[in-house]
Amino acid sequence: MFAFIFSPSQINDDWPGYGLDLFSHPAHYSGDLECVFIPHGVIMDRTERLARNIMDDLGDHDIVVLCVLKGGYQFSADLVDRIKALSRNSSCTILMRVHFIRLKSYLNDQSTEDLHIVGAEDLSFLTGKAIVGTGKTMKTLLKHVEAFRPKMIKVATLLVKRVPNNWACLPDYVGFEIPNRFVVGYALDYNEYFRDLNHICVISESGKVKYKI
Ligand code: HPA
Ligand code: MG
Repeated sequence: MFAFIFSPSQINDDWPGYGLDLFSHPAHYSGDLECVFIPHGVIMDRTERLARNIMDDLGDHDIVVLCVLKGGYQFSADLVDRIKALSRNSSCTILMRVHFIRLKSYLNDQSTEDLHIVGAEDLSFLTGKAIVGTGKTMKTLLKHVEAFRPKMIKVATLLVKRVPNNWACLPDYVGFEIPNRFVVGYALDYNEYFRDLNHICVISESGKVKYKI
């Protein structure tokens, strides 16, 4: 017997994305993109709902937000912003502190073995705190963070890719589950390009060649 776990935020493998001419994007990336995979407005609406879920779960805790740079900066900023807005209009407020950690593992569109934490601050302030991490490369980071024995760790990520054996550490809050495609924009990069794109897009083959190192 098979059980299918239906995820309502799932984007199917056959989703072709939106045509580029339906939305604005910077002219300097014309020709470098295949489609708009998730428009900026949809990202923002989904982020607002995740903020609500986080408030419902953690509303009476002070939290430390640990933003995973660089790809997580936009999602972190928008998520914190939405939590602040909800907090303003609610009787239960969340005191948030925001910290940053940097992980690096990708060259071109390939994951490299040597994932490393760069530019980490002293994380001893995490001890005894509730944490919401935002980012992609979670397993290494979780091991690192757990060593500081925080009271609670929650992981929020905008995207989870459907890749084989990716079930080992499923985040607590997921924006969208997407097919295994390399996407850029909304702070996600290809060799440091495309972070300045608002939508999440699929890069074109010519885009990959143009910015390859
Ligand atoms: N885009 C950008 N960075 C990434 C991706 C991606 O699809 N997957 C892992 N790091
Ligand atoms: Mg990157």
